[in-house]
Amino acid sequence: MLDTYKIRKDFPILNREVYNKPLVYLDNAATTQKPICVIKKMEEIYSTINSNIHRGVHHLSRLATESHEQARKTVAGYINAHSDAEVIFTRGTTDAINLVASSFCRSHCKSGDEIIVTAMEHHANIVPWQLQAEQVGVVLRVLPVNGSGEIKTDDLEQLISPQTKLISVAHVSNVTGIVNPVEDIIRIAHGYGIPVMIDAAQSVQHMKIDVEKMDCDFLVFSSHKMYGPLGIGVLYGKEQWLDSLPPYQGGGEMIARVSFEGTTFNELPFKFEAGTPDYVGSAALGEAIGYITEIGMDNVRRYEEELSGFAIEQLLQIEGVKLVGTAERKSPVISFLLDEIHPYDAGMLLDRMGFALRTGHHCAQPLMDALGIDGTIRASFAFYNTKDEIVQFVDAVKKVMNILVKR
Ligand SMILES: Cc1ncc(COP(=O)(O)O)c(C=O)c1O
Repeated sequence: MLDTYKIRKDFPILNREVYNKPLVYLDNAATTQKPICVIKKMEEIYSTINSNIHRGVHHLSRLATESHEQARKTVAGYINAHSDAEVIFTRGTTDAINLVASSFCRSHCKSGDEIIVTAMEHHANIVPWQLQAEQVGVVLRVLPVNGSGEIKTDDLEQLISPQTKLISVAHVSNVTGIVNPVEDIIRIAHGYGIPVMIDAAQSVQHMKIDVEKMDCDFLVFSSHKMYGPLGIGVLYGKEQWLDSLPPYQGGGEMIARVSFEGTTFNELPFKFEAGTPDYVGSAALGEAIGYITEIGMDNVRRYEEELSGFAIEQLLQIEGVKLVGTAERKSPVISFLLDEIHPYDAGMLLDRMGFALRTGHHCAQPLMDALGIDGTIRASFAFYNTKDEIVQFVDAVKKVMNILVKR
């Protein structure tokens, strides 16, 4: 079992107040708070071994290099990658998707080739492909969602054509928390020889990810949504795919030999890591992974499911609450509407009561269009949230209804 009250002591920010009220942080899908071990790790690296990595022969540089490469091993172990070379450090999910979109479309696509995404994608998994539509002429095909916000794999079979070159889908929707049947999507795609990229930005912090079992070709996520620092993320790619892609950006680190006559590129993973890597961020991400691994992903999943089930049950008892996105498999992300109340108005009132949540389109405007709404109120939970906080939150929602609904 999870000792949430003990866990909360590891997160200094959770003790603070806003507007003289205790902070209730329910915006974890946007970014998670950081445990003290992650914060301390960054301080430790800066104050003990800070030194640019890979190039230096001196002691500090060797220590910093070892720390960075150890972090790569930790990430590889966490997602069960076959080799460390399959783990590329990026600036985050967005950067990783842009990398794949750019390198893949330039090398594997021609004008008229198709990329499939779903209607529930975050803008980070839409716009990079649109940029490639302009550059290379690829065509974006969209798997629709139904009224509950779910995709159907039968529709995928309809959408696949001889021109389909890659399928890129969110593992979990950042708006509804719906978990997509990625294993089925990958099986179907592979039946046609099509590679699949999984946007795991909203899943890697809530469930065990095993890339070998999942059999995805690429998988991307951000450190800051999984209790790690900002500014770093991960692209996992099967070695054969990464080998087949040209570099994304040019500069130091990613080269083998540079001359004005021509340049050769470094081996994996360095081919995709131009410039000085964030070796402080990687070490702190490694620390975050160590922290959540110690808690245990099965414990995390069980606790968060219970928490989110409780929140849904309590919210639905309030007249006028409408959930957006219902499905059997959900992560602890709840989007809802309150009668005719505009989400921003509700969000502003809840903020004044100490609740940090997100309102609006959540960087998923096409999903809002598909569902025929402007935005939602979103509460997203982490393992440091408590049932007490949910009880307070539900009370606060009732107050908002009393203030804003004219009955
Ligand atoms: C599903 C999904 N994909 C991609 C992103 C982009 O992540 P980042 O801004 O960390 O690059 C997010 C962020 O909310 C997300 O939820």
